[in-house]
Amino acid sequence: QQQDDYALMESVARYFQQQLRQHANSQKAIDYLKGRGLSGDIVKHWEIGYAPSEWDGVLKTFGKEHERVKQLIDLKLVNQNDRGKTYDFFRDRIMFPIRDRRGRVIGFGGRVLEGDGPKYLNSPETRIFHKGHELFGFYQAKQSQRHLDKVIIVEGYMDVVALSQFDINIATAALGTATTPEHLSMLMRATSHIVCCYDGDRAGRDAAWRALENALPALKDGVKLTFLFLPDGEDPDTMVRKVGKDAFMNLLDDALPLSRFFFESLLKEHEVGTPEGKVALKAAAQPLIDQVLGDSQKAMLQEELAKHVGEYDRFRLQQDMQQANQAS
Ligand code: CTP
Ligand code: MN
Ligand code: MN
Ligand code: MN
Ligand code: MN
Repeated sequence: QQQDDYALMESVARYFQQQLRQHANSQKAIDYLKGRGLSGDIVKHWEIGYAPSEWDGVLKTFGKEHERVKQLIDLKLVNQNDRGKTYDFFRDRIMFPIRDRRGRVIGFGGRVLEGDGPKYLNSPETRIFHKGHELFGFYQAKQSQRHLDKVIIVEGYMDVVALSQFDINIATAALGTATTPEHLSMLMRATSHIVCCYDGDRAGRDAAWRALENALPALKDGVKLTFLFLPDGEDPDTMVRKVGKDAFMNLLDDALPLSRFFFESLLKEHEVGTPEGKVALKAAAQPLIDQVLGDSQKAMLQEELAKHVGEYDRFRLQQDMQQANQAS
């Protein structure tokens, strides 16, 4: 069954690629990709395709037998409505096949060309597609280099693809979900330096903090985790096109170490000029530090916390709090 699922997914990926070359309406998809600055080589490298706008492209091509239709539904390539009517899940979208770490096609990301509807539609979870475990581009990054000095986590498919066009083949993207502890564990087995590089917008900043929180339980000693914050309005795709490969690589080298991002963020929330502020900082930081996997990493953050709150023990903190309460 599973073997067969992967084979079918692979065939459907080929079909989408074929449609990009052959479908009567594919010119607008090609124009869109050109407009995004993608070269033909890079489109081929990432096996980017086109899901035509009809309702039964995949269904007609692959669903000739009842059993197959069932499988297409299970793999979420075909939807079935309440009345039993079946139709293609992806229509009139640019298609990015998602390969797992072993190179098998397990799902797709589909982007609208323009206009309305959600910008990206991803395959829902299926028996072979587990978003929290896989990263778009990880397989290709490992193929390009045996040893990965560093890996970049970005938000989008287009970010991964654009970076690779600039010969930066170390980017991976979470699949429309947050970066999970499993993602980070997987990357930490492959590299000793992970750079989180999310968009320079509010969503990107929030995503970076969530990634930090999720990274802590997986944070081994000897692994460097850094954070690159792009200017507001930029993402890795737009940024690398503006500044080029070398400048982008320099930005990666200068990314903020985890400890700096950790305390800068918390210090924005908690004013440590007062005992109350110190208590609040400690209360926010300690549970996070306690989760850290690596002993040295943990000790490093603990020491840094002590610098900010002083060597408060629990007893002194309580006394300070009481005094503060009485004074107010
Ligand atoms: N994403 C997703 N599902 C959504 C929205 C976003 O999977 N409904 C993913 C996409 O991979 C997207 C990334 O999250 O690229 C970041 O979202 P956003 O910054 O909004 O995408 P853009 O950079 O604007 O997308 P594009 O460059 O393709 O215009
Ligand atoms: Mn899995
Ligand atoms: Mn964004
Ligand atoms: Mn973008
Ligand atoms: Mn973006």
